[in-house]
Amino acid sequence: MTFSAPVEAVARPLPPTDRIRLGVLASGRGTNLQSLLDAAASGQMPGEVVAVASNRPDAPAIERARRAGVPASVFARADYPSRAAQEEAIVGFLGERGVELVVLAGYVPVLGATLLGAFDNRIINIHPSLLPAFGNTLHAQADALRHGVKIAGCTVHFVNNQVDGGPIILQRAVPVLEGDTEESLSERILAEEHRALPEAVRLIADGRVLIEGNRTRILPAS
Ligand code: GRF
Repeated sequence: MTFSAPVEAVARPLPPTDRIRLGVLASGRGTNLQSLLDAAASGQMPGEVVAVASNRPDAPAIERARRAGVPASVFARADYPSRAAQEEAIVGFLGERGVELVVLAGYVPVLGATLLGAFDNRIINIHPSLLPAFGNTLHAQADALRHGVKIAGCTVHFVNNQVDGGPIILQRAVPVLEGDTEESLSERILAEEHRALPEAVRLIADGRVLIEGNRTRILPAS
């Protein structure tokens, strides 16, 4: 009897491009959004942020977008009869701006079928832990410290219907130091987040990321 490994379908999220159009969703201070705005402005990332959406009217991320001249809109859950209706409005806004890739940069709500369906394989998220450790929490850094891990870090991954469970694109590690507090560890991880997110976008724009089941394959640079 012979056994063969199941053949996974391979998907490439987008054709290679030298100007990927990003839509960023953010709920908070927006330093990861800023890293994308800066990487685009300096030419380190082949693309531009063309739309920013938030669920929170008071998110500093909105102000960062406006300062950079990027259209920004608030879609508060309370203003819509359902999560699907809220997401439909977001999808409309992103669609009008020609968004190709959606980046969750500190966006707190869990995505529903409307957004996931509209941008299948084209939504990425940054999480401040080395997934699958410390997923599905807003306190990943504190949990890592409490657990006593010696290495922490961040993960950029595709978003699917498993919270923090989609295919991993890249991870960056940092040491946990004696005497670290939640603040000091978070700051060390955040510095890596600001490198990881534009780097993941660059890999996707260059067409180097293939999705195979729940894994990605990163092609060598050509
Ligand atoms: C980051 O730590 C990110 O990993 C997590 O939320 C935080 C957002 O920070 N998902 P900021 O709003 O980008 O400064």
